[in-house]
This record gives sequence, structure tokens and C-alpha cells, in this order.
Amino acid sequence: MYLSSKEERTLQGEEGEALSFAMKILVNLGDLEGAEGLIPVTSAHVSGVSYHTAGEALIKLLEELNEKGAKVSIPSSLNPAGMDLRRWKEIGYPDDFAEKQLRIIDLYKGLGLNMTCSCIPYETPDIVLPVGLGDHISWGESNAVIYANSMIGARTNREGGISCLASAILGKTPNWGMHLDENRAPDLEVRVKGEMEPIHYDLLGAYVGKNFNSSIPVFNGVRIDSDNGSLKHLGAAMAAKGGIPLYHVDGLTPEMTKGLVDKDGIDERIDVSAFGLWKMKKELYPDPEKEVNTYVLGCPQFGRAEFARLHAAMKGKKVKKGKRILVYTSRGLRNLLPEGRVEDLENAGIEVYDDTCMVVSPLARLGMERVGTDSGKAAHYIPKMSGIEAELVPLEVIVDRCTK
Ligand code: F3S
Repeated sequence: MYLSSKEERTLQGEEGEALSFAMKILVNLGDLEGAEGLIPVTSAHVSGVSYHTAGEALIKLLEELNEKGAKVSIPSSLNPAGMDLRRWKEIGYPDDFAEKQLRIIDLYKGLGLNMTCSCIPYETPDIVLPVGLGDHISWGESNAVIYANSMIGARTNREGGISCLASAILGKTPNWGMHLDENRAPDLEVRVKGEMEPIHYDLLGAYVGKNFNSSIPVFNGVRIDSDNGSLKHLGAAMAAKGGIPLYHVDGLTPEMTKGLVDKDGIDERIDVSAFGLWKMKKELYPDPEKEVNTYVLGCPQFGRAEFARLHAAMKGKKVKKGKRILVYTSRGLRNLLPEGRVEDLENAGIEVYDDTCMVVSPLARLGMERVGTDSGKAAHYIPKMSGIEAELVPLEVIVDRCTK
């Protein structure tokens, strides 16, 4: 990979150990991916925050970076942690876990990152990270990556925790993959037939992610009159089941509406319908063998649209004894909600937590044996991350099952 003489000097350590460390990581990555050089990025979103997923190795790395005096040089934010950082005791997190998690947060703080632990920085751009069409960014967390690329038209590869942290420190990333025009045009057309409910977008994402893993899809026939969170779920499920970093929607996503990509390279076309997707549900998400009593919502973390939907579904209802509904969001997002929204839900028996989510929390250590969720991404990852069964259930059905 080509390096300018200043970059070369940084690599050799003339600007200090921390920048040299970050440069080494990015040069190795760039060489591996065939990048021609480095480009500046306007923001970094760092994944790898939960002690449940990252463990001791992360603590060691962050301690070393703090010792070297590393600091982020661009606006940089953090993905969810393994627990609600304020209410962990009342929820029942073990002390040993909490101690490690708080240590990680302290170490990130030392590096200068924004402490809003969120996987939806795109919903709180003024609070967490500014991002716009055409911005080159370095984001980890696959739902944030696919949303930023697709719905905003920013440009990022699916970065790992270490490479986005290196970019946060250096303010640069290797120029390859999604940063290049030629890799952003669709090669698969997905024609959506008929009416789709929100849950069908999770199934659609899972189906396309699983079966067209290396494609850039363009969807047409998608009718989203108002943002109800469905496209967040579509992207999250697609990125979870496959490695897809970008999709387009005819008439909606900015690179299509502004004519920045064309459809000349499409070499495959498929038709999908809500009915067909529902028939595939058991194959994509096997049902648990026993009844589910605990339901976890907010993967990606709950935004304004999802809160509005749940609030409407819960009107006049209360969670009944023996059932639980837990919602995960970020503090930044919570602050943008209409007054009383969270309080109404809490008064109805719903538990609303910040800073974390059901995938990066140690659910089994919290006593959960199986859960239901309205998220295709969460239903995919919970069995892998916590070793417990997860059922994919539409949000309104969850409310029906849990309320009186
Ligand atoms: Fe976000 Fe956790 Fe899902 S980080 S996308 S809520 S797995």
C-alpha cells in the first residue's frame, strides 16, 4: 500500500507509539485487502465493548493503548456494552462481570470516545456522530455499517473492533471495498410482491443474507410510507445472516434517488412475497421447544419509530404476571423521545434499559433459559452468544402473549 512520507514516519514511530500502533493495524489491513492507500475518515464507530463478547483480551489492549497515551482524533462512538451502566445492580448482573465491564468503559473514556453506548448512532447524529451522504467513515457493528452505507449513503467497510479503533486514533482508513464507487452498484434485484408487515423485513433480510451473501441487492416494491424501523431490521438481519454491507431501495435510498449508482450490473433477479417469507420462517429461525416467557426487544436498539409502535400496541394493556418484556435502547435516543413515552411503558410493566442489548448481555448468567424477540438479528445471534434458544415473534404478537 502506498504511504506518504508523513504516514511512513508515523509508521516508524516518529509521532509516538500510539499512532504507530494504529498505523500498523491499518497498513496490514490495507495490504491484505489490496488498498492503494489511506483516506481520511470523518468518524469512527467502535464495536467490541461488551466484556461478554470481548473478554480479557480487550482490557489488555485498551490498557496498552492508554499507557501509550492514545487519543481519538475524530468524532468516535462506542457500541453497546454488556450491561446497563447505571442499573446493572438492580437487574442482577454479577459483580465480577460488572467490574470488568466498568473497567472497559473507563479505558475507552481514557481514549476520548463518546460514552453513549449505542448501535444506532445514525439515529442520534447530533448527540453521537455526524454522518452524511458520501462521507468516508470507519464503523464497526454490522447493522450500523449497512444502515450508514444504504440509508445515508456514507461509505464504510464492515470494520472489526480493532480496525475502527485504529481509525479513530489515526483519522484514516485503507481505501478499498465500500469506499470505492465501483463496488457500490447493485448486482441482484429483489422484487417484493404484496403487502409486508414489519416481521417480514427481518425474514427478507435473513433470506437474502443467507442465500446471496456476496451480493449488493436493490429492493423494489418496498412500500415504506413512514419509517417504522423495518429497514433497520432488514439491514440488520441481512448483515447478520450474511456479509452484506450495503443495499439499495428503489425510490428511497440516496444513492438510487440521486442516480449515483446504476443497475447495469444486475445479473440476477428474484421475487419474494410476505407469504413465501413466512413459509421459510421455521427454516431460518427454528422455534424453541418450550414456552417462552421473556421477550427482548431492541436489536438494533429501539429508536423513535419502534417506541411509537410499542407504545401504540400497549395502549390500555399491562404485562401480566410470569411474563417479561425487556427493551434495549441508548441514552442518547431516550432523550429524544416524547415526554412520558418511556414512563408509560414502564408503568405498563415493560423494562427499558440503556447502554446494552440482548446479544451482548450475558443472558444465561441473568437466569434466562429461552427468549422471544422481534429481531431477526437477535434471533440469529442469541443462541450463539448465550447458548439459549430464541424465537422470532412479531412485536404485536409479543404484546398479545404478554398482556392482559
Ligand atoms: Fe445492536 Fe446489539 Fe443488535 S449491538 S444491532 S442491538 S446485537
